[in-house]
Amino acid sequence: MVQDAAAHGPVNPWVALAYLVAGVFFILALRGLSSPSTSRTGNRFGMAGMLIAVATTLVTHEVANIVEIGIAIFLGGIIGFSIARRIAMTAMPELVAAFHSLVGLAAVLVAAAAFLNPGAFGILEESGNISSVSRIEMMLGAAIGAITFSGSVIAFAKLSGRMSGSPILLPARHIINLGTLAAILAGTALYAMQPTAGAGEGWLFWAIVAAAFVIGFLLIIPIGGADMPVVVSMLNSYSGWAAAAMGFTLGNTAMIITGALVGSSGAILSYIMCRAMNRSFISVIAGGFGADASAGGGEAREQRPYKTGSAADAAFMLEQAEKVIIIPGYGMAVAQAQHALREMADMLEEKGIEVKFAIHPVAGRMPGHMNVLLAEANVSYDKVFELEDINSEFAQADVAFIIGANDVVNPAAKTDKSSPIYGMPVFDVDKAKQVFFIKRSMGGVGYAGVDNDVFYMDQTMMLLSDAKKMVEEIVKAMD
Ligand code: TAP
Repeated sequence: MVQDAAAHGPVNPWVALAYLVAGVFFILALRGLSSPSTSRTGNRFGMAGMLIAVATTLVTHEVANIVEIGIAIFLGGIIGFSIARRIAMTAMPELVAAFHSLVGLAAVLVAAAAFLNPGAFGILEESGNISSVSRIEMMLGAAIGAITFSGSVIAFAKLSGRMSGSPILLPARHIINLGTLAAILAGTALYAMQPTAGAGEGWLFWAIVAAAFVIGFLLIIPIGGADMPVVVSMLNSYSGWAAAAMGFTLGNTAMIITGALVGSSGAILSYIMCRAMNRSFISVIAGGFGADASAGGGEAREQRPYKTGSAADAAFMLEQAEKVIIIPGYGMAVAQAQHALREMADMLEEKGIEVKFAIHPVAGRMPGHMNVLLAEANVSYDKVFELEDINSEFAQADVAFIIGANDVVNPAAKTDKSSPIYGMPVFDVDKAKQVFFIKRSMGGVGYAGVDNDVFYMDQTMMLLSDAKKMVEEIVKAMD
């Protein structure tokens, strides 16, 4: 643990410089992560920054027991390393949610330790009381941490299928949420205004922490279906703010900088995703969207006629095309079809056919999911286009080749106000002359659990198979 003077004493200029360098590395990391082509370099900057920050903290602060800290870092590192190596790409969002919950819990524990032993954190005034500012920092860390913890646990349970993805809508939930938030804010103000260790302040601290755990739970249970990605990035932002508040309590500048960077970049990402999905940013923070009970539910399907085709049919028609737009989605990740897909795209290009990849901002199960998979298969970045840059080109495309995507091409998002994905921008695949739709069966639904009119369009040919198997067969048929 960081000791008194080390926590809040005068700052050694070398320490300040080292933390500044670490902060610059973190900013370079974020910059690198903004594009798939520079993301590996960005990751390395982040690792270097973290190494500098941790080493500086250990070397320059009086630590109670370096051996205990070393054992904790070693065990945590081994656990994190083995989980990260084993985890399937498709399970990444639930892993991220689980890790966010740990950041939240750590913030609560640090605040609780500071509350129980303020002397060890250097936050006691000469009068023997905790100052109002330190109380606010501590309470913010504990409250945001508790919200992050319980919210992330619910997000993890929903994303991993441990609980239903359908929204749980409590009656009068907005009044309950607002009342609980108001109670947390009023309690924090009351706690901050009591710089004397008055009787009863102990229960106030724990009551605020308990209310924050409850509100984290209440904010996430009404969210379901296609809205989960925004929630995960919002919780990412909360975990950053919790870490920043923790940095104030521990008197650690690097932690404040890192927490603020994570908090603000998570908030910006949530804002971008809200715009991509046509959701209100404010209503995300308030836990007020996803309120349609049908979201994620898997509605009853009516029987409608549709056409199926074989790999040979698809290969023949692809070879006649001049322009093909490929739309990958979650199913491509499940099938790991990206390498076969690149091979197919290369063969088409060799025949003089123009091939482009269209990536929806929420395709797959995490931001950038499709970009990472295509990069892994060495698809050139200049062939990969964002929704707004390519959507107008479907009208000139001979083939829209949908592989494992579903919600992101569902026109119900444009026309059906009762649909859980209503308002989300989607690809205009219906404008293409021919649509190929790869999925395993007509029974399977996308993440939001709703039927898709594209299956039944005149120009659609359903290619019912595992995505990798189907693309490999198309490649074979084109040989
Ligand atoms: P989805 O709408 O989830 O559709 C996936 C499709 O892949 C389904 O039609 C499924 O049908 C098919 N599929 C699954 N495994 C397959 C396999 N092995 N071979 C062939 N097809 C397979 O995917 P999407 O269009 O990418 O949309 C993403 C959805 O997830 C959105 O609703 C989004 O909001 C949500 N979401 C996104 C994120 C982020 S950040 N990207 C995070 C959480 C949730 P079959 O089962 O019939 O094969």
